[in-house]
Amino acid sequence: MVEFRLPINSRIEQGTVWPKPTGESLREFQVYRWNPEDGRNPRLDTYFVDQNNCGPMVLDGLIWIKNNVDSTLTFRRSCREGVCGSCSMNIAGQNTLACTKSMNEDVPEGEPLRVLPLPHQPVVKDLVPDLTNFYAQLALIEPWLQTTSPTPQTEWRQSHEDRAKLDGLYECILCACCSTSCPSYWWNSERFLGPAALIQAARWINDSRDEATGERLDMLEDPFRIYRCHTILNCAKACPKGLNPGEAISALRLKMVQRKF
Ligand code: SF4
Ligand code: SF4
Ligand code: FES
Repeated sequence: MVEFRLPINSRIEQGTVWPKPTGESLREFQVYRWNPEDGRNPRLDTYFVDQNNCGPMVLDGLIWIKNNVDSTLTFRRSCREGVCGSCSMNIAGQNTLACTKSMNEDVPEGEPLRVLPLPHQPVVKDLVPDLTNFYAQLALIEPWLQTTSPTPQTEWRQSHEDRAKLDGLYECILCACCSTSCPSYWWNSERFLGPAALIQAARWINDSRDEATGERLDMLEDPFRIYRCHTILNCAKACPKGLNPGEAISALRLKMVQRKF
Protein backbone atom coordinates (compact mmCIF):
# COMPACT_ATOMS: atom_id res chain seq x y z
CA MET A 1 0.00 0.00 0.00
CA VAL A 2 1.26 3.50 -0.83
CA GLU A 3 1.54 5.42 2.40
CA PHE A 4 0.42 8.98 2.83
CA ARG A 5 0.60 10.70 6.20
CA LEU A 6 -1.23 13.93 6.74
CA PRO A 7 0.90 16.41 8.70
CA ILE A 8 -0.84 18.94 10.89
CA ASN A 9 -1.60 22.22 9.07
CA SER A 10 -0.54 20.76 5.73
CA ARG A 11 -1.68 22.65 2.67
CA ILE A 12 -3.90 20.54 0.46
CA GLU A 13 -4.80 21.43 -3.08
CA GLN A 14 -8.37 22.25 -4.05
CA GLY A 15 -10.25 19.40 -5.72
CA THR A 16 -13.67 19.12 -7.34
CA VAL A 17 -16.37 21.64 -6.44
CA TRP A 18 -19.56 19.60 -6.67
CA PRO A 19 -22.77 21.33 -7.84
CA LYS A 20 -24.96 23.11 -5.30
CA PRO A 21 -28.35 21.51 -4.77
CA THR A 22 -31.40 23.75 -4.63
CA GLY A 23 -32.31 24.45 -1.03
CA GLU A 24 -32.32 27.30 1.44
CA SER A 25 -30.10 25.88 4.14
CA LEU A 26 -26.85 24.65 2.63
CA ARG A 27 -23.71 23.76 4.60
CA GLU A 28 -20.45 23.76 2.64
CA PHE A 29 -18.21 20.76 3.41
CA GLN A 30 -14.54 20.61 2.36
CA VAL A 31 -13.61 16.96 2.55
CA TYR A 32 -10.18 15.34 2.24
CA ARG A 33 -9.97 12.96 -0.70
CA TRP A 34 -7.13 10.58 -1.50
CA ASN A 35 -7.21 7.30 -3.34
CA PRO A 36 -3.89 5.43 -3.55
CA GLU A 37 -5.06 3.84 -6.79
CA ASP A 38 -5.76 6.94 -8.89
CA GLY A 39 -2.25 8.45 -8.79
CA ARG A 40 -3.54 11.91 -7.81
CA ASN A 41 -2.35 14.08 -4.94
CA PRO A 42 -4.54 14.48 -1.88
CA ARG A 43 -7.12 17.24 -2.38
CA LEU A 44 -10.13 18.87 -0.74
CA ASP A 45 -13.42 18.34 -2.55
CA THR A 46 -16.22 20.83 -1.91
CA TYR A 47 -19.79 19.63 -1.35
CA PHE A 48 -22.97 21.47 -0.39
CA VAL A 49 -25.23 19.60 2.02
CA ASP A 50 -28.94 20.41 2.16
CA GLN A 51 -29.46 20.67 5.92
CA ASN A 52 -33.24 20.53 5.53
CA ASN A 53 -32.86 17.11 4.00
CA CYS A 54 -30.52 15.37 6.42
CA GLY A 55 -29.72 14.96 10.13
CA PRO A 56 -27.74 17.57 12.09
CA MET A 57 -24.43 15.79 12.69
CA VAL A 58 -21.30 15.81 10.54
CA LEU A 59 -21.73 12.07 9.93
CA ASP A 60 -25.28 12.71 8.70
CA GLY A 61 -23.81 15.19 6.22
CA LEU A 62 -21.17 12.72 5.00
CA ILE A 63 -23.79 9.99 4.57
CA TRP A 64 -26.01 12.48 2.70
CA ILE A 65 -23.10 13.31 0.38
CA LYS A 66 -22.39 9.62 -0.22
CA ASN A 67 -26.05 8.85 -0.94
CA ASN A 68 -26.88 11.93 -3.00
CA VAL A 69 -23.72 13.38 -4.54
CA ASP A 70 -20.62 11.18 -4.60
CA SER A 71 -20.82 7.48 -3.77
CA THR A 72 -17.00 7.14 -3.88
CA LEU A 73 -16.51 9.14 -0.67
CA THR A 74 -15.05 6.70 1.88
CA PHE A 75 -15.27 6.85 5.67
CA ARG A 76 -15.83 4.53 8.62
CA ARG A 77 -18.92 4.46 10.78
CA SER A 78 -21.06 1.97 12.59
CA CYS A 79 -23.18 2.84 15.64
CA ARG A 80 -24.03 6.53 14.95
CA GLU A 81 -24.38 6.85 18.75
CA GLY A 82 -20.85 7.76 19.92
CA VAL A 83 -20.28 4.22 21.15
CA CYS A 84 -18.20 2.29 18.61
CA GLY A 85 -15.43 4.86 18.03
CA SER A 86 -15.18 4.16 14.32
CA CYS A 87 -16.19 7.56 12.89
CA SER A 88 -13.33 9.55 14.47
CA MET A 89 -11.85 12.20 12.20
CA ASN A 90 -10.52 15.75 12.29
CA ILE A 91 -13.46 18.17 12.04
CA ALA A 92 -12.92 21.93 11.98
CA GLY A 93 -9.42 21.37 13.36
CA GLN A 94 -10.41 19.09 16.23
CA ASN A 95 -10.23 15.30 16.46
CA THR A 96 -13.69 14.07 17.38
CA LEU A 97 -16.54 11.73 16.46
CA ALA A 98 -18.46 12.68 13.33
CA CYS A 99 -21.67 11.13 14.68
CA THR A 100 -21.83 13.33 17.80
CA LYS A 101 -20.46 16.56 16.32
CA SER A 102 -23.03 19.01 14.97
CA MET A 103 -22.22 20.33 11.53
CA ASN A 104 -22.99 23.85 12.77
CA GLU A 105 -20.80 23.72 15.87
CA ASP A 106 -17.53 25.69 15.88
CA VAL A 107 -17.98 26.86 12.28
CA PRO A 108 -19.63 30.24 11.66
CA GLU A 109 -22.53 30.45 9.20
CA GLY A 110 -21.19 30.72 5.66
CA GLU A 111 -17.75 29.27 6.49
CA PRO A 112 -16.82 25.84 5.07
CA LEU A 113 -16.65 22.87 7.40
CA ARG A 114 -13.32 21.14 6.87
CA VAL A 115 -13.22 17.37 7.41
CA LEU A 116 -9.88 15.53 7.38
CA PRO A 117 -8.72 12.09 8.48
CA LEU A 118 -7.15 11.70 11.94
CA PRO A 119 -3.73 13.39 11.70
CA HIS A 120 -0.35 11.69 11.49
CA GLN A 121 -1.63 8.27 10.61
CA PRO A 122 -1.16 6.55 7.26
CA VAL A 123 -4.29 7.02 5.15
CA VAL A 124 -5.98 4.02 3.57
CA LYS A 125 -8.41 6.13 1.55
CA ASP A 126 -10.19 9.48 2.02
CA LEU A 127 -11.20 9.72 5.71
CA VAL A 128 -10.06 6.22 6.66
CA PRO A 129 -6.79 6.08 8.65
CA ASP A 130 -4.69 2.95 8.91
CA LEU A 131 -4.80 2.08 12.64
CA THR A 132 -2.69 -1.08 12.43
CA ASN A 133 0.00 0.31 14.74
CA PHE A 134 -2.64 1.69 17.12
CA TYR A 135 -4.28 -1.73 17.52
CA ALA A 136 -0.92 -3.50 17.81
CA GLN A 137 -0.17 -1.22 20.77
CA LEU A 138 -3.52 -2.02 22.31
CA ALA A 139 -2.76 -5.74 21.94
CA LEU A 140 0.57 -5.20 23.71
CA ILE A 141 -1.14 -4.07 26.91
CA GLU A 142 -3.27 -7.27 26.87
CA PRO A 143 -6.66 -5.68 27.55
CA TRP A 144 -8.40 -8.56 29.26
CA LEU A 145 -8.75 -9.88 32.82
CA GLN A 146 -5.76 -11.99 33.84
CA THR A 147 -5.88 -14.22 36.92
CA THR A 148 -3.90 -17.04 38.47
CA SER A 149 -6.39 -17.93 41.20
CA PRO A 150 -8.79 -20.76 40.34
CA THR A 151 -11.69 -19.42 38.32
CA PRO A 152 -14.76 -18.99 40.56
CA GLN A 153 -17.86 -21.07 39.90
CA THR A 154 -20.01 -18.08 39.08
CA GLU A 155 -18.28 -14.74 38.64
CA TRP A 156 -15.37 -12.58 39.77
CA ARG A 157 -16.79 -10.30 42.44
CA GLN A 158 -15.85 -6.70 43.07
CA SER A 159 -16.88 -4.24 45.78
CA HIS A 160 -18.67 -1.05 44.79
CA GLU A 161 -15.61 0.92 45.92
CA ASP A 162 -13.24 -1.09 43.72
CA ARG A 163 -15.64 -0.91 40.80
CA ALA A 164 -15.67 2.90 41.16
CA LYS A 165 -11.89 2.95 40.59
CA LEU A 166 -12.57 2.06 36.95
CA ASP A 167 -14.71 5.15 36.36
CA GLY A 168 -13.06 7.52 33.92
CA LEU A 169 -11.16 4.61 32.37
CA TYR A 170 -13.59 1.91 31.25
CA GLU A 171 -15.63 4.35 29.14
CA CYS A 172 -12.85 4.59 26.52
CA ILE A 173 -14.21 3.58 23.10
CA LEU A 174 -10.78 3.36 21.40
CA CYS A 175 -11.57 6.05 18.88
CA ALA A 176 -7.89 7.18 18.71
CA CYS A 177 -8.81 10.89 18.89
CA CYS A 178 -6.43 11.31 21.84
CA SER A 179 -3.39 9.48 20.49
CA THR A 180 -3.60 11.22 17.14
CA SER A 181 -3.75 14.64 18.82
CA CYS A 182 -0.72 13.93 21.05
CA PRO A 183 2.52 15.58 19.82
CA SER A 184 4.64 12.94 21.54
CA TYR A 185 2.71 10.24 19.71
CA TRP A 186 3.11 12.00 16.36
CA TRP A 187 6.90 11.87 16.65
CA ASN A 188 7.31 8.55 18.49
CA SER A 189 4.31 6.45 17.55
CA GLU A 190 6.48 3.39 16.95
CA ARG A 191 7.69 3.32 20.57
CA PHE A 192 5.46 5.54 22.76
CA LEU A 193 2.21 3.66 23.39
CA GLY A 194 0.12 6.82 23.33
CA PRO A 195 -2.76 7.92 25.56
CA ALA A 196 -5.38 5.47 24.24
CA ALA A 197 -3.35 2.31 24.90
CA LEU A 198 -2.15 3.73 28.22
CA ILE A 199 -5.65 4.56 29.52
CA GLN A 200 -6.53 0.96 28.66
CA ALA A 201 -3.46 -0.23 30.59
CA ALA A 202 -4.64 1.87 33.55
CA ARG A 203 -8.11 0.36 33.27
CA TRP A 204 -6.70 -3.18 33.83
CA ILE A 205 -4.04 -2.19 36.37
CA ASN A 206 -6.75 -0.51 38.48
CA ASP A 207 -9.06 -3.52 38.30
CA SER A 208 -9.12 -5.22 41.74
CA ARG A 209 -9.90 -8.59 40.09
CA ASP A 210 -6.84 -8.58 37.83
CA GLU A 211 -3.80 -10.49 39.13
CA ALA A 212 -1.18 -9.41 36.58
CA THR A 213 -0.48 -5.91 37.91
CA GLY A 214 3.25 -6.53 38.37
CA GLU A 215 3.70 -7.89 34.84
CA ARG A 216 1.64 -5.03 33.40
CA LEU A 217 3.80 -2.43 35.16
CA ASP A 218 6.98 -4.30 34.09
CA MET A 219 5.85 -4.03 30.47
CA LEU A 220 5.64 -0.24 30.83
CA GLU A 221 9.18 0.05 32.28
CA ASP A 222 10.79 1.41 29.15
CA PRO A 223 12.17 4.84 28.23
CA PHE A 224 9.52 5.30 25.52
CA ARG A 225 6.37 3.27 26.23
CA ILE A 226 5.02 5.55 28.96
CA TYR A 227 7.71 8.11 29.73
CA ARG A 228 7.29 9.99 26.43
CA CYS A 229 4.14 11.56 27.85
CA HIS A 230 5.01 15.15 28.71
CA THR A 231 1.64 16.00 30.30
CA ILE A 232 0.68 18.40 27.50
CA LEU A 233 -2.94 17.17 27.90
CA ASN A 234 -3.98 17.53 24.26
CA CYS A 235 -5.41 14.05 24.81
CA ALA A 236 -7.91 15.24 27.44
CA LYS A 237 -8.96 18.14 25.23
CA ALA A 238 -9.60 15.82 22.30
CA CYS A 239 -11.43 12.98 24.05
CA PRO A 240 -15.07 12.96 22.89
CA LYS A 241 -16.03 10.89 25.97
CA GLY A 242 -14.67 13.50 28.38
CA LEU A 243 -11.87 11.25 29.69
CA ASN A 244 -8.43 12.38 30.81
CA PRO A 245 -5.77 9.93 29.59
CA GLY A 246 -2.96 12.27 30.67
CA GLU A 247 -4.12 12.06 34.28
CA ALA A 248 -4.38 8.27 34.03
CA ILE A 249 -0.81 8.16 32.67
CA SER A 250 0.46 10.30 35.58
CA ALA A 251 -1.22 7.95 38.06
CA LEU A 252 0.40 4.95 36.36
CA ARG A 253 3.80 6.58 36.57
CA LEU A 254 3.27 7.22 40.26
CA LYS A 255 2.44 3.52 40.77
CA MET A 256 5.62 2.58 38.91
CA VAL A 257 7.72 4.76 41.21
CA GLN A 258 5.93 3.74 44.43
CA ARG A 259 6.44 0.03 43.90
CA LYS A 260 10.21 0.56 44.01
CA PHE A 261 10.12 1.74 47.64
S1 SF4 B 1 -0.68 14.31 28.30
FE1 SF4 B 1 0.77 12.82 27.50
S2 SF4 B 1 -0.47 11.46 26.28
FE2 SF4 B 1 -1.72 13.31 26.62
S3 SF4 B 1 -1.30 14.60 24.84
FE3 SF4 B 1 0.15 15.13 26.40
S4 SF4 B 1 1.99 13.93 25.97
FE4 SF4 B 1 0.27 13.01 24.88
S1 SF4 C 1 -9.41 8.03 25.80
FE1 SF4 C 1 -11.05 9.14 24.74
S2 SF4 C 1 -10.09 9.92 22.88
FE2 SF4 C 1 -8.75 8.32 23.67
S3 SF4 C 1 -9.36 6.49 22.58
FE3 SF4 C 1 -10.48 6.53 24.53
S4 SF4 C 1 -12.42 7.52 24.05
FE4 SF4 C 1 -11.05 7.96 22.34
S1 FES D 1 -20.37 5.84 14.37
FE1 FES D 1 -19.86 4.85 16.26
S2 FES D 1 -18.90 6.41 17.38
FE2 FES D 1 -19.55 7.43 15.58
